[in-house]
Amino acid sequence: MSVTAADIYNRLAEEWAPAPDDRPYTAINMVATIDGKTVSGARGEPVQDLGSSNDHQLMRKIENAAQAVLIGAASQRSSKAISYPAHLLRIVATRSGNLDYDSRFFRDDPSRCVVLCTEHTVLNGVPPQAAVLRCGEAGVDWKSAMLAVRESLGVSRLLVEGGSDVNGQLIRLNFADELFLTVAPKVRLGTGLPTYADGAPLERHAMKMFNLIEINRIGDEVFLRYRRKGDDCT
Ligand SMILES: NC(=O)c1ccc[n+]([C@@H]2O[C@H](COP(=O)([O-])OP(=O)(O)OC[C@H]3O[C@@H](n4cnc5c(N)ncnc54)[C@H](OP(=O)(O)O)[C@@H]3O)[C@@H](O)[C@H]2O)c1
Repeated sequence: MSVTAADIYNRLAEEWAPAPDDRPYTAINMVATIDGKTVSGARGEPVQDLGSSNDHQLMRKIENAAQAVLIGAASQRSSKAISYPAHLLRIVATRSGNLDYDSRFFRDDPSRCVVLCTEHTVLNGVPPQAAVLRCGEAGVDWKSAMLAVRESLGVSRLLVEGGSDVNGQLIRLNFADELFLTVAPKVRLGTGLPTYADGAPLERHAMKMFNLIEINRIGDEVFLRYRRKGDDCT
Protein backbone atom coordinates (compact mmCIF):
# COMPACT_ATOMS: atom_id res chain seq x y z
CA MET A 1 0.00 0.00 0.00
CA SER A 2 1.42 3.38 -0.93
CA VAL A 3 1.77 6.05 1.73
CA THR A 4 1.71 9.81 1.51
CA ALA A 5 3.47 12.39 3.66
CA ALA A 6 0.19 12.81 5.55
CA ASP A 7 0.52 9.22 6.84
CA ILE A 8 4.04 9.59 8.26
CA TYR A 9 5.49 11.05 11.49
CA ASN A 10 2.15 11.93 13.05
CA ARG A 11 2.99 10.90 16.62
CA LEU A 12 6.67 11.77 16.96
CA ALA A 13 6.31 13.94 20.06
CA GLU A 14 4.69 11.04 21.93
CA GLU A 15 7.12 8.48 20.51
CA TRP A 16 10.25 10.38 21.53
CA ALA A 17 11.56 9.25 24.91
CA PRO A 18 11.48 11.65 27.85
CA ALA A 19 14.55 13.85 27.91
CA PRO A 20 17.39 13.00 30.25
CA ASP A 21 18.09 15.54 33.01
CA ASP A 22 21.19 16.99 31.36
CA ARG A 23 20.11 17.53 27.75
CA PRO A 24 17.06 17.44 25.46
CA TYR A 25 16.02 14.29 23.63
CA THR A 26 17.67 15.08 20.31
CA ALA A 27 16.93 14.13 16.71
CA ILE A 28 18.81 15.11 13.56
CA ASN A 29 17.11 15.42 10.17
CA MET A 30 18.93 15.63 6.81
CA VAL A 31 18.39 14.88 3.14
CA ALA A 32 21.18 13.27 1.11
CA THR A 33 21.74 11.99 -2.40
CA ILE A 34 22.17 8.25 -3.11
CA ASP A 35 25.94 8.85 -2.96
CA GLY A 36 25.56 10.49 0.43
CA LYS A 37 26.10 14.16 -0.40
CA THR A 38 24.11 16.73 1.56
CA VAL A 39 24.64 19.75 -0.67
CA SER A 40 23.35 20.35 -4.17
CA GLY A 41 25.79 23.20 -4.88
CA ALA A 42 28.99 24.14 -3.12
CA ARG A 43 29.27 23.76 0.65
CA GLY A 44 27.64 26.83 2.14
CA GLU A 45 25.05 27.21 -0.62
CA PRO A 46 21.31 26.59 -0.15
CA VAL A 47 19.97 23.03 -0.47
CA GLN A 48 16.22 23.49 -0.76
CA ASP A 49 16.33 21.74 -4.15
CA LEU A 50 17.81 18.48 -2.80
CA GLY A 51 14.58 16.98 -1.44
CA SER A 52 11.09 16.95 -2.93
CA SER A 53 7.95 18.66 -1.65
CA ASN A 54 7.28 15.44 0.32
CA ASP A 55 10.65 15.82 2.02
CA HIS A 56 9.83 19.43 2.86
CA GLN A 57 6.45 18.42 4.24
CA LEU A 58 7.98 15.71 6.43
CA MET A 59 10.68 18.10 7.61
CA ARG A 60 7.88 20.37 8.86
CA LYS A 61 6.22 17.46 10.64
CA ILE A 62 9.46 16.59 12.44
CA GLU A 63 9.90 20.28 13.32
CA ASN A 64 6.36 20.37 14.68
CA ALA A 65 7.22 17.58 17.12
CA ALA A 66 10.22 19.50 18.48
CA GLN A 67 10.34 22.52 20.77
CA ALA A 68 13.58 23.95 19.37
CA VAL A 69 15.72 23.65 16.27
CA LEU A 70 19.52 23.95 16.22
CA ILE A 71 21.66 24.66 13.16
CA GLY A 72 25.29 25.55 12.52
CA ALA A 73 26.18 29.06 11.40
CA ALA A 74 27.21 27.90 7.92
CA SER A 75 23.71 26.54 7.38
CA GLN A 76 22.22 29.76 8.77
CA ARG A 77 24.33 31.84 6.37
CA SER A 78 23.48 29.56 3.43
CA SER A 79 19.99 30.95 2.86
CA LYS A 80 17.97 34.01 3.82
CA ALA A 81 14.80 31.97 3.36
CA ILE A 82 15.14 29.39 6.16
CA SER A 83 11.92 29.57 8.16
CA TYR A 84 10.27 27.57 10.90
CA PRO A 85 6.88 26.81 12.44
CA ALA A 86 5.91 29.64 14.79
CA HIS A 87 6.31 27.69 18.04
CA LEU A 88 9.96 26.68 17.50
CA LEU A 89 12.91 28.24 19.29
CA ARG A 90 15.66 28.78 16.68
CA ILE A 91 19.20 28.19 17.95
CA VAL A 92 22.28 28.88 15.84
CA ALA A 93 25.82 27.89 16.87
CA THR A 94 28.74 30.15 15.93
CA ARG A 95 32.36 30.71 16.93
CA SER A 96 32.95 33.63 14.57
CA GLY A 97 29.79 35.58 15.34
CA ASN A 98 29.33 36.00 11.61
CA LEU A 99 25.58 35.46 11.23
CA ASP A 100 23.08 36.71 8.67
CA TYR A 101 20.73 38.88 10.68
CA ASP A 102 18.93 39.99 7.54
CA SER A 103 17.32 36.58 7.12
CA ARG A 104 14.01 34.98 7.99
CA PHE A 105 15.83 32.99 10.67
CA PHE A 106 16.18 36.22 12.70
CA ARG A 107 13.48 38.41 11.22
CA ASP A 108 10.42 36.15 11.52
CA ASP A 109 10.42 36.14 15.33
CA PRO A 110 13.61 37.51 16.94
CA SER A 111 12.24 36.76 20.41
CA ARG A 112 12.47 33.04 19.58
CA CYS A 113 16.11 33.22 18.40
CA VAL A 114 19.09 32.07 20.43
CA VAL A 115 22.72 32.65 19.45
CA LEU A 116 24.86 29.88 20.93
CA CYS A 117 28.50 30.94 21.00
CA THR A 118 31.71 30.94 23.02
CA GLU A 119 32.76 33.23 25.84
CA HIS A 120 34.95 35.10 23.31
CA THR A 121 32.65 35.38 20.29
CA VAL A 122 32.20 39.00 19.26
CA LEU A 123 28.59 39.62 18.30
CA ASN A 124 27.38 42.59 16.29
CA GLY A 125 23.80 42.95 15.15
CA VAL A 126 21.98 40.40 17.31
CA PRO A 127 18.37 41.61 17.57
CA PRO A 128 17.70 42.90 21.11
CA GLN A 129 14.83 40.42 21.56
CA ALA A 130 17.10 37.43 20.86
CA ALA A 131 18.93 35.49 23.58
CA VAL A 132 22.66 34.81 23.68
CA LEU A 133 24.01 31.67 25.31
CA ARG A 134 27.77 31.51 25.87
CA CYS A 135 29.22 28.07 26.62
CA GLY A 136 32.87 27.19 26.05
CA GLU A 137 36.16 28.80 25.15
CA ALA A 138 37.55 27.63 21.76
CA GLY A 139 34.18 26.38 20.61
CA VAL A 140 30.77 25.77 22.08
CA ASP A 141 31.10 23.12 24.76
CA TRP A 142 28.19 20.90 23.80
CA LYS A 143 27.80 19.26 27.19
CA SER A 144 27.19 22.55 28.96
CA ALA A 145 25.27 23.95 25.97
CA MET A 146 22.87 21.01 25.97
CA LEU A 147 22.40 21.36 29.72
CA ALA A 148 21.60 25.05 29.25
CA VAL A 149 19.19 24.29 26.41
CA ARG A 150 17.44 21.78 28.66
CA GLU A 151 17.46 23.76 31.90
CA SER A 152 17.57 27.45 30.99
CA LEU A 153 15.54 27.27 27.78
CA GLY A 154 13.30 24.44 29.02
CA VAL A 155 13.69 22.39 25.84
CA SER A 156 13.07 18.66 26.16
CA ARG A 157 12.71 17.87 22.42
CA LEU A 158 15.43 19.30 20.15
CA LEU A 159 15.73 18.92 16.39
CA VAL A 160 19.14 19.48 14.79
CA GLU A 161 19.06 20.37 11.09
CA GLY A 162 22.74 20.29 10.25
CA GLY A 163 25.00 20.89 8.78
CA SER A 164 27.51 18.10 8.73
CA ASP A 165 29.94 19.89 11.05
CA VAL A 166 27.46 20.31 13.90
CA ASN A 167 25.91 16.87 13.32
CA GLY A 168 29.31 15.17 13.55
CA GLN A 169 30.13 16.79 16.88
CA LEU A 170 26.81 15.79 18.42
CA ILE A 171 26.87 12.22 17.09
CA ARG A 172 30.44 11.78 18.40
CA LEU A 173 29.22 12.74 21.89
CA ASN A 174 26.23 10.35 21.70
CA PHE A 175 23.92 13.37 21.90
CA ALA A 176 21.88 12.34 18.85
CA ASP A 177 19.12 9.96 19.90
CA GLU A 178 17.45 9.68 16.50
CA LEU A 179 18.60 10.26 12.95
CA PHE A 180 16.13 11.01 10.17
CA LEU A 181 17.49 10.65 6.66
CA THR A 182 15.75 11.28 3.37
CA VAL A 183 17.50 9.57 0.45
CA ALA A 184 16.86 11.66 -2.65
CA PRO A 185 17.02 9.69 -5.91
CA LYS A 186 20.01 11.64 -7.19
CA VAL A 187 23.76 11.14 -7.56
CA ARG A 188 26.00 14.17 -7.06
CA LEU A 189 29.58 12.81 -7.32
CA GLY A 190 32.43 14.98 -6.02
CA THR A 191 35.21 14.54 -3.52
CA GLY A 192 35.15 16.42 -0.24
CA LEU A 193 31.51 17.42 -0.30
CA PRO A 194 29.69 17.23 3.06
CA THR A 195 27.80 14.11 4.05
CA TYR A 196 25.40 13.51 6.96
CA ALA A 197 28.16 14.07 9.51
CA ASP A 198 31.75 15.31 9.26
CA GLY A 199 34.74 15.43 11.56
CA ALA A 200 37.65 13.12 12.31
CA PRO A 201 36.74 9.51 11.50
CA LEU A 202 35.87 7.15 14.31
CA GLU A 203 37.93 3.97 14.71
CA ARG A 204 36.47 0.81 13.21
CA HIS A 205 35.55 -0.53 16.67
CA ALA A 206 34.09 2.80 17.79
CA MET A 207 31.57 3.35 15.02
CA LYS A 208 28.23 4.58 16.33
CA MET A 209 25.45 2.03 16.05
CA PHE A 210 21.81 2.71 15.27
CA ASN A 211 18.66 0.64 14.84
CA LEU A 212 16.48 1.29 11.82
CA ILE A 213 13.08 1.90 13.45
CA GLU A 214 11.02 3.21 10.54
CA ILE A 215 11.21 3.20 6.76
CA ASN A 216 8.81 4.82 4.32
CA ARG A 217 8.90 5.22 0.58
CA ILE A 218 7.06 7.86 -1.41
CA GLY A 219 7.74 7.58 -5.12
CA ASP A 220 11.50 7.40 -5.59
CA GLU A 221 12.36 8.94 -2.22
CA VAL A 222 13.03 6.91 0.94
CA PHE A 223 12.52 8.24 4.45
CA LEU A 224 14.62 6.48 7.08
CA ARG A 225 14.48 6.85 10.84
CA TYR A 226 17.16 5.44 13.13
CA ARG A 227 17.46 5.30 16.92
CA ARG A 228 20.80 5.18 18.68
CA LYS A 229 21.72 1.81 20.16
CA GLY A 230 23.06 1.41 23.65
CA ASP A 231 23.20 3.19 27.02
CA ASP A 232 19.87 4.96 27.54
CA CYS A 233 18.67 4.34 23.96
CA THR A 234 18.37 0.58 23.43
N1 LIG B 1 21.11 18.19 3.12
C1 LIG B 1 20.66 18.69 4.24
O1 LIG B 1 19.72 18.18 4.84
C2 LIG B 1 21.33 19.92 4.84
C3 LIG B 1 20.93 20.37 6.10
C4 LIG B 1 21.57 21.49 6.63
C5 LIG B 1 22.55 22.13 5.93
N2 LIG B 1 22.90 21.69 4.70
C6 LIG B 1 23.96 22.38 3.94
O2 LIG B 1 25.18 22.12 4.61
C7 LIG B 1 26.05 23.23 4.42
C8 LIG B 1 26.56 23.70 5.77
O3 LIG B 1 27.06 22.61 6.51
P1 LIG B 1 28.48 22.68 7.21
O4 LIG B 1 28.80 21.32 7.71
O5 LIG B 1 29.44 23.34 6.29
O6 LIG B 1 28.29 23.69 8.41
P2 LIG B 1 27.27 23.82 9.66
O7 LIG B 1 27.39 22.61 10.52
O8 LIG B 1 25.95 24.25 9.19
O9 LIG B 1 27.92 25.07 10.39
C9 LIG B 1 29.27 25.07 10.75
C10 LIG B 1 29.50 26.30 11.56
O10 LIG B 1 28.80 26.21 12.79
C11 LIG B 1 29.55 26.82 13.82
N3 LIG B 1 30.00 25.77 14.75
C12 LIG B 1 30.15 24.44 14.54
N4 LIG B 1 30.58 23.83 15.65
C13 LIG B 1 30.71 24.79 16.58
C14 LIG B 1 31.12 24.81 17.92
N5 LIG B 1 31.48 23.68 18.58
N6 LIG B 1 31.15 25.98 18.58
C15 LIG B 1 30.77 27.14 17.96
N7 LIG B 1 30.35 27.19 16.69
C16 LIG B 1 30.33 26.04 16.01
C17 LIG B 1 30.73 27.47 13.15
O11 LIG B 1 30.26 28.75 12.75
P3 LIG B 1 31.17 30.03 12.48
O12 LIG B 1 31.77 29.78 11.12
O13 LIG B 1 30.25 31.19 12.49
O14 LIG B 1 32.19 30.10 13.56
C18 LIG B 1 30.94 26.56 11.95
O15 LIG B 1 31.67 27.17 10.91
C19 LIG B 1 25.25 24.31 3.70
O16 LIG B 1 25.56 24.29 2.32
C20 LIG B 1 23.82 23.88 3.95
O17 LIG B 1 22.98 24.33 2.92
C21 LIG B 1 22.33 20.58 4.15
